[in-house]
Amino acid sequence: MTQPLIQTMTVIGVGLIGGSLVRALKAAGAVGRVIGVDCDPENLQTALELGVIDEAAASLAAGVCHADLVFLAVPVRSVEGVVAKIASHLPAGCIVTDGGSVKLELVRQCETLLPAGIHFVGGHPIAGTERSGVAASFAELFKGRRCILTPTAVTNPHALHMVRQLWEAAGSRVECMDPLTHDRVFAAVSHLPHMVAYTLVHAVAASAEEEENILAFSAGGFRDFTRIASSDPVMWRDIALMNSGPLLELLDRYATDLEALRQRVAAGDGPWLEQFFRTSKRLRDEIA
Ligand SMILES: NC(=O)c1ccc[n+]([C@@H]2O[C@H](COP(=O)([O-])OP(=O)(O)OC[C@H]3O[C@@H](n4cnc5c(N)ncnc54)[C@H](O)[C@@H]3O)[C@@H](O)[C@H]2O)c1
Repeated sequence: MTQPLIQTMTVIGVGLIGGSLVRALKAAGAVGRVIGVDCDPENLQTALELGVIDEAAASLAAGVCHADLVFLAVPVRSVEGVVAKIASHLPAGCIVTDGGSVKLELVRQCETLLPAGIHFVGGHPIAGTERSGVAASFAELFKGRRCILTPTAVTNPHALHMVRQLWEAAGSRVECMDPLTHDRVFAAVSHLPHMVAYTLVHAVAASAEEEENILAFSAGGFRDFTRIASSDPVMWRDIALMNSGPLLELLDRYATDLEALRQRVAAGDGPWLEQFFRTSKRLRDEIA
């Protein structure tokens, strides 16, 4: 029998992303023993009962001390505290990687906190759902989806290769990007749309208070557009705060465009509105 890619893997944060990665690796025979750590004991027990993890660790230190690879899948603002606690308990040569949606600040924190001989590789799977917790995880989540790795000048090439193989075993297409480019790109295509969806639900719910039953009429457009506003609020609080630079630039641009639209509606400027919608439709139609 061939050896699995990783003998002992520890997942910190056994939720949708951590749980789904383990399920995919187990299905591919790419991992041996999996140890789980989670601050929610109920979720950790469910992970054990579902067979996602083989062992539930009582503490971060106990969870990582025999790991060949540690996968961090906690909300992005929790990563620094977790890494500070595990840094001195990791065995020499251990690879630490993550699935966080923000990279520049997180990679800097991990590279600063981890001692020499521990190899960090930043990662972000471009897959997810609006559900959370291990019960929502499934092995096919990453199949055919991109996973971005964000190596820097100090990334160990062997560790990078291992993490690439890990995501490929889970079915992902791996691409590398520098952390700053990653944060700018995903501020535009993911973080801003989530902010807009949360705000839209808020605004419509406020008018629903004035006019009863408004939400009962919510049809396809509103439902489709706002599906992502059902995503975990803690996760999105952390992403908004940790990628605030690129996100603020985009929010300003969006606010400017929205104000222009508002003024043209108020002015009854049909030709401008039609042209604006035509341009956006053409751009949207060009996306595969
Ligand atoms: N959900 C998505 O669509 C998606 C997609 C790509 C990346 N991500 C990233 O993956 C990470 C995890 O997201 P998720 O969707 O799996 O969330 P999740 O809520 O399903 O899982 C996170 C788990 O981490 C645990 N946790 C939180 N803080 C902890 C701590 N300090 N110590 C130990 N456990 C802790 C929680 O109890 C929970 O079980 C986040 O960083 C997120 O940015 C999410």
